[in-house]
Amino acid sequence: MLEDGLHAVPAGHTASVVTHLEMLEEAPQRPDAELALTLRRVERPDPDWYLNLFRKVGAPWLWFGRLVLGREELVAILQDDKVHVHVVADATGAEVGLLELDFRQEAACELAYFGLAPGAVGGGAGRWMMNRAIRLAWGQGISRFHVHTCTLDHPAALDFYCRSGFVPYAREIEIAPDPRLSGLIDMDAAPHVPLIRD
Ligand SMILES: CC(C)(COP(=O)(O)OP(=O)(O)OC[C@H]1O[C@@H](n2cnc3c(N)ncnc32)[C@H](O)[C@@H]1OP(=O)(O)O)[C@@H](O)C(=O)NCCC(=O)NCCS
Repeated sequence: MLEDGLHAVPAGHTASVVTHLEMLEEAPQRPDAELALTLRRVERPDPDWYLNLFRKVGAPWLWFGRLVLGREELVAILQDDKVHVHVVADATGAEVGLLELDFRQEAACELAYFGLAPGAVGGGAGRWMMNRAIRLAWGQGISRFHVHTCTLDHPAALDFYCRSGFVPYAREIEIAPDPRLSGLIDMDAAPHVPLIRD
């Protein structure tokens, strides 16, 4: 168990507080705007297409979870019938959102990745996508829907999940190599998180 107080983070690493949340029965839908968006499941997605979307949505928030996997490990996840990758496209066909539901655990669903590309944030698309995520997850007969978010994510994300019906139940600290310094993400990403080099 970690002692109270401040803990040094090695240079070249990021640190974040992770909050785990769960929903134990299907939350009611919240009002969403009528938006010219489409949501489409992509079965067995091409890894390069997937990584491109993952970076588009996640790089501004230093998402590294899928970027650190070896190719075989990533392909195994993407080809698993229990991992449902959905893409949100706008009226021009531009791909602006990623919704990834992971049903690999019996009777549960993890909202593994949920986010919008920077230009699509804050215009109602998040709520539109969450209403659909809740329906899709609970439509598979689960008894638990869970997610985690961290302090490197969009600052509105935690509150957004709480309003969506997820209840926080645990908190962790995560220290990880800064994905910009390991070459996984462009150096100019996430300027709100200053680089601290070795
Ligand atoms: C988290 C995230 C998906 C939230 O999406 P968002 O686009 O910021 O949120 P929205 O604008 O859809 O919703 C915010 C609220 O404003 C309302 N709203 C915003 N624009 C609206 C509009 N034009 N018309 C009607 N309502 C609108 C929504 O209905 C919603 O209300 P509610 O939460 O009270 O139900 C988004 O910030 C994001 O992708 N962030 C980057 C990635 C990330 O951090 N992901 C989460 C971490 S895992």
